[in-house]
Formats: sequence, structure tokens, C-alpha cells
Amino acid sequence: MSKTSVVFITGASSGIGLAIARAVPFEARVFNISRRAVEGLEHMPADLSDPASWGQVAALFERELSGFEGPRAIFIHSAGTLTPMGAAGEVDGAGYTRQVLLNSAAPQVLGNAFLSAAAGCSARRQLLIVGSGAGQTVYEGWSAYCGGKAATDHWVRTVGAEQARRSGCEVASVAPGVVDTPMQDEIRATPVGDFPDHSRFVELHQEGLLRDPSEVAADFWRLLEAGLENGAVLDLREP
Ligand SMILES: NC(=O)c1ccc[n+]([C@@H]2O[C@H](COP(=O)([O-])OP(=O)(O)OC[C@H]3O[C@@H](n4cnc5c(N)ncnc54)[C@H](OP(=O)(O)O)[C@@H]3O)[C@@H](O)[C@H]2O)c1
Repeated sequence: MSKTSVVFITGASSGIGLAIARAVPFEARVFNISRRAVEGLEHMPADLSDPASWGQVAALFERELSGFEGPRAIFIHSAGTLTPMGAAGEVDGAGYTRQVLLNSAAPQVLGNAFLSAAAGCSARRQLLIVGSGAGQTVYEGWSAYCGGKAATDHWVRTVGAEQARRSGCEVASVAPGVVDTPMQDEIRATPVGDFPDHSRFVELHQEGLLRDPSEVAADFWRLLEAGLENGAVLDLREP
């Protein structure tokens, strides 16, 4: 049985997830769960907007954590999408459905699968969701994204309370601030008609106020190493 720590990361092919994967501060097997593979990470190919993929990810958790004897088992959910941007009722319905499934349902279903698979481990267990200020702020054109982040934050509060009572897994959500990733490129490339706050994000970029993903990853690992307060919904921009 494996005595090496394991870190599962959804969306480790790009941006924040990739930076977190590259910065793991201890020896571990690191899995990227997403559609695209990247060099140096184990890859579980999955389109997480397709519910059929969730059982496959659950099977990966079961396979890796059954009889697991390593010191750390961590699940970081970073996969997310803003596509399609535009007002509800005016965007492509199939795309909107995929966005709801990825942003709202996948984190809860996969979080549940990780907790279940990790329940029998003596390892230190942590589940961290990459949240967003959009879970608390209205951004017209981002309804499925804002709704997904808000739902996931409240899932974290609830599951965190359950886990605290059980001395189980540490569960938290952390919003990273505005970070220089392809998601921000997509925001700036979107017509203002689909996203009225467009100019704010263009200005943040022009003023050099986007954070580097590697700095954000270092902050995430500082929090993970210190220990997550169960049920905490944090924002790196707040002291
Ligand atoms: N950048 C910011 O300013 C910012 C601010 C607040 C919160 N966030 C959050 O940070 C997280 C990461 O975003 P990012 O900025 O790093 O964006 P990114 O560079 O665009 O990366 C998005 C990641 O999500 C994965 N993903 C997207 N759709 C997927 C699908 N259908 N199935 C599986 N994986 C999928 C992508 O992997 P594949 O393409 O390989 O599938 C990719 O690895 C997101 O949850 C986002 O909401 C970002």
C-alpha cells in the first residue's frame, strides 16, 4: 500500500490549479483531473461538466485511498468556467447547463466522493475549494458562475461543521483575488454587452493589479500547511 502522500487537483492543467500542483511542498503523487494533460502530473482525463465523469473520479479516489498509508490525502477543486458569459435567458442553453454542472454540482459531488473514499484513512485529510468573490458579489453575465460559487461556499460551511464534529477532514473554501490566468484573458476578450463590468477587469490588468498564480499557490499552501479551519470561507484579499 502507498506510503506517499497524494494530492488530487481538478483543473491542474492551467492557471491556479497548475500553479498549486507545481508548488506541492512535500513528496506526493499529484493528479491532474481535467480534460488536458500536462507534463509531470498524473492525469485523470475528465470533462467535469459531464456527470458521467464524476463516477470515474470517485473510482480514482476509491482506488488510491483504499488501504492508503501515506501521511497526507488532499483534494483541491480548482476547475471552473465562466463560459458562456451573458445574461440568463440569452445564452446558449446547453452551454449554460454545462456551466451549472461544473460550477455548482461537480464540487459537491466530487467533495462527497473524496470524503467517502478518505474516511477510513489515518492520513491528515484536507479538502480545499477554490472559491471566488463572485460568490458574494453580483456580476451581470456571470449568473451560473456566481450561483455556483455561492452554493459551493455554503456547502463548505455545512460540510465543515459536519467534519468538525467528527474530527474528520479539514474543509474550506478560499477565494484567490484577481489572478493572471487564461480565465482573465477570456473576461477581457468578452464583449461588454455580455459582461457590463468588463472595463473594471481591463483596468485591473492595465494597472498591473492581477496576482501571479505562483504567489497565489504559495498562499494556498501556507493555509494548507497551517491547517484549514473547518467550514471557513476565506478570501486571500482579506487580512
Ligand atoms: N483567475 C481569477 O482571477 C480567479 C478569481 C477567482 C476565482 N478563480 C477560480 O479559480 C479556479 C481556476 O481558474 P483559473 O483562473 O486558473 O482558470 P483557467 O486558467 O482557465 O483554468 C481553468 C481550469 O479548469 C479546468 N476546467 C474547465 N472546464 C472543465 C471541465 N469541463 N472539466 C474539467 N476541468 C475543466 C481547466 O482544465 P481543462 O481545460 O484541462 O479541462 C483548467 O485547468 C476557478 O474555479 C475559478 O473560478 C479564478
